[in-house]
Amino acid sequence: MEKVGVLLVSYGSRAAAIADALHRSESYDVSIFDADKQKNPFILERAAAQEIGLDTEKICDFAKKHQDKIDFGIVGPEGPIIAGIRDVIEKKTKIPMICPTKEHAIERSKVLQRRLLEKCCPSANPRFRVFDPKAYASKDKLKKDIWAWLDELENSAVVKPDAPATGKGVGVWGDHFSTREELFNHFLTCYEHGPVIIEEKVDGEEFSLQFFSDGKHLIATDAVRDYKRAFDGDLGMNTGGMGSYKDSDNKLPFMDQKDWDDALGIGKRIFDELKGEGDGPFLRGIPLYMAYTCAKDGVKVFEINSRPGDPEIINLLPILEDDFVDVCFRMLDGSLTKLDFAKKASVITYAVPMTYGGYRKAFSGDRRIDLSKAYELDKKYHDSIRIYPGSMELRGKETFALGSRVVCTVGIGDDIEAARNISLDGIVSIDGALWNRWDIGSKGHIKKSIEHMKSLRR
Ligand code: GLY
Repeated sequence: MEKVGVLLVSYGSRAAAIADALHRSESYDVSIFDADKQKNPFILERAAAQEIGLDTEKICDFAKKHQDKIDFGIVGPEGPIIAGIRDVIEKKTKIPMICPTKEHAIERSKVLQRRLLEKCCPSANPRFRVFDPKAYASKDKLKKDIWAWLDELENSAVVKPDAPATGKGVGVWGDHFSTREELFNHFLTCYEHGPVIIEEKVDGEEFSLQFFSDGKHLIATDAVRDYKRAFDGDLGMNTGGMGSYKDSDNKLPFMDQKDWDDALGIGKRIFDELKGEGDGPFLRGIPLYMAYTCAKDGVKVFEINSRPGDPEIINLLPILEDDFVDVCFRMLDGSLTKLDFAKKASVITYAVPMTYGGYRKAFSGDRRIDLSKAYELDKKYHDSIRIYPGSMELRGKETFALGSRVVCTVGIGDDIEAARNISLDGIVSIDGALWNRWDIGSKGHIKKSIEHMKSLRR
């Protein structure tokens, strides 16, 4: 088998899924060089070398040290992409990187995203206004303008900082504040760091599409639903995502085919605009992970990311029928014209630490996590289950939970319910003080989404 070396820039379960996809290659013998946030036990077991720390210079030094054995690099988390990891590594080593360049990582600015949408797909853009600290000398004038804008929006507003804040800076009327003064206080906590958007709150159901690219071609994938809120019934604070599901075809049960087609059209227009003239491969990798809302009057964009979603990419990689290493090579040589995925549903459930998402105020207990019983489920489910550690680290022979999403269980089935049952069997087999949502991909949750869309579009 041909030997291939891959620099993997890792953060969490998403990177474990990428490492798994690389490691399962049937055509290549892959050596993974893992630059990681922590000593992820799953990736470490499959890696030729691991270096902890996601600082650009540190990743670059690690890449340089092993560059004779590395054929290409691939990046999961947004931080290094936005910081320009591709530009730095491609300049200082001979390693080609799979991720967008710094300039093409549109995730870095929500203001740029809104302005880009205004230019190429205005009907998919909610009404918005940007409040820039540079434009206001006095707080009174700022407040007056915000109040006038809230009059126009009838208070139904969302506050979003320009810079990525992993959902945490986003405030929604009715959820995070219910008076103008509360909204203004939330606004000010973001405004002290830079421009802030106040935009129309769009009622609807969320989904996302992740697009793969070789810089020239744009390949759309099946729609995925993420569960951002901490608790069952979509209650509690926003998190990085407590789980996600996809159906066995390209759309979700609450979507029409037109919603998926419209989402694809929006993605294509954004891609063409970002790419500009010429064939420069600046948008290599997953340059667009588009988060949409299915609304009364069509599909709206609420966010554009420049990387694979966590957990959303984990719904897709385990059902990819192409060899992932070949896909990477095709992204690098500009020949990625199609991707084949199995017609399967998949459900991901995250198990998180006791204090994550505000579930407990404190936890002073044992943080040891034993995944051995969960891993043993592959004897029962074979390739239909995956267990991917995330915010977890190996210390000696034992593994311990850290502060973020600890481990996800992936169930794959002919329908969502079958996939969900497998994912939950994985969850209950984890030995450790963690908690999870129980309604990811549940019939009840999906029915509510379907009824919500029906009532909006009646
Ligand atoms: N699932 C949310 C994110 O990846 O940003």
